[in-house]
Amino acid sequence: MNIVVLAGGNSTERDVSLISGTGVYRALKERGHNVVLLDVYLGVQDVDPEHVFELDRDWSEGIQAIKELNPDLNAIRAMKGEDRNFFGENVIPICQKAEIVFMALHGANGEDGRIQAAFDLMGIPYTGTDYLSSAICMDKAVTKEFFKSGDVPTPRSVTIIKGAPDYEESLTEAKKIGYPCVVKACNGGSSVGVYIIDSEAELGDALEKAFSYDRKVLIEEFIKGRELTCGIINGKALPVVEIAPVAGFYDYKNKYQAGSTIETCPAQIGDENTAKVQEICERAFHVLGLVTYARIDAILTENGDVYCLEANTLPGMTPTSLLPQEAREIGLSYGELCEHIIELSMEKYR
Ligand SMILES: Nc1ncnc2c1ncn2[C@@H]1O[C@H](COP(=O)(O)OP(=O)(O)O)[C@@H](O)[C@H]1O
Ligand SMILES: [Mg+2]
Repeated sequence: MNIVVLAGGNSTERDVSLISGTGVYRALKERGHNVVLLDVYLGVQDVDPEHVFELDRDWSEGIQAIKELNPDLNAIRAMKGEDRNFFGENVIPICQKAEIVFMALHGANGEDGRIQAAFDLMGIPYTGTDYLSSAICMDKAVTKEFFKSGDVPTPRSVTIIKGAPDYEESLTEAKKIGYPCVVKACNGGSSVGVYIIDSEAELGDALEKAFSYDRKVLIEEFIKGRELTCGIINGKALPVVEIAPVAGFYDYKNKYQAGSTIETCPAQIGDENTAKVQEICERAFHVLGLVTYARIDAILTENGDVYCLEANTLPGMTPTSLLPQEAREIGLSYGELCEHIIELSMEKYR
């Protein structure tokens, strides 16, 4: 097949996406496909979209490992100069030549449904869920409303919107949640804009930082327990993974620096808890209207209560990422998983 793997972009998860994209690109190439890896935001110069799949070229050349800090987006924006079009040079004509676009994007403009909506209108087939469920899941407050309406347990929370008429009222409500609590930007990802605070004294600072990412911020009850995540493919749960950072919580650094988090797959939580987590995550997938695949984050408390935090509609896809680990547990290699995602996604268009 002629496949474009779309990565990069201009979100805080840009670097992670480039690594996901490189992994998917190499695996699909190895399996005999004609694959082009593109940075959706920066595009590519000097190619003829008509013949791009015939080029013998390593498209992953120059992509670097994920750094300790999330990328400086102003520097990335500056590389585009005056160009106001989000899509980089030649991206759309090349995508229009592909049989399918593999979405290896994470975060804003990629995981939030905007590209999916644009592609629907342009007739470009893509992997993963549709534009609406993507948009719903990109907003953690909206996601939680769907959780609540579908009997999916989720931590208590209050949403605060900067500049809204009920700002002070919501803040007063939020303070009743108690401490520790979690302050998070609603549209974040990779723990960027997530702060765990121990007292009201830290609230102002955490809010200010969270508001620098989004005008909508969630103040959530802190759930003490074991952190889990569960991939769902076509509505069915994969084995659960437990994530245990060596120090601190599962923040950006602990997510992407080798050795900083212990990931156990399958999670050693017993059959009963496993079945419960899988059932709740499948329900979460269903109530959010998700199709093809996603990964749901959850916490299991000492009493065996499960709380869902959020859904990742384009979860990390590096060969060692959580979803590929879970797939391996059921005998699906990384390359097979990439192909399986493509096959499932093609079904949407039949
Ligand atoms: N309510 C909560 N209780 C305890 N830990 C939390 C809670 N919310 C978030 N966290 C921690 O912060 C991390 C990131 O939060 P999450 O809601 O999954 O956002 P994202 O992964 O999109 O940045 C989680 O993996 C977890 O370690
Ligand atoms: Mg998460």
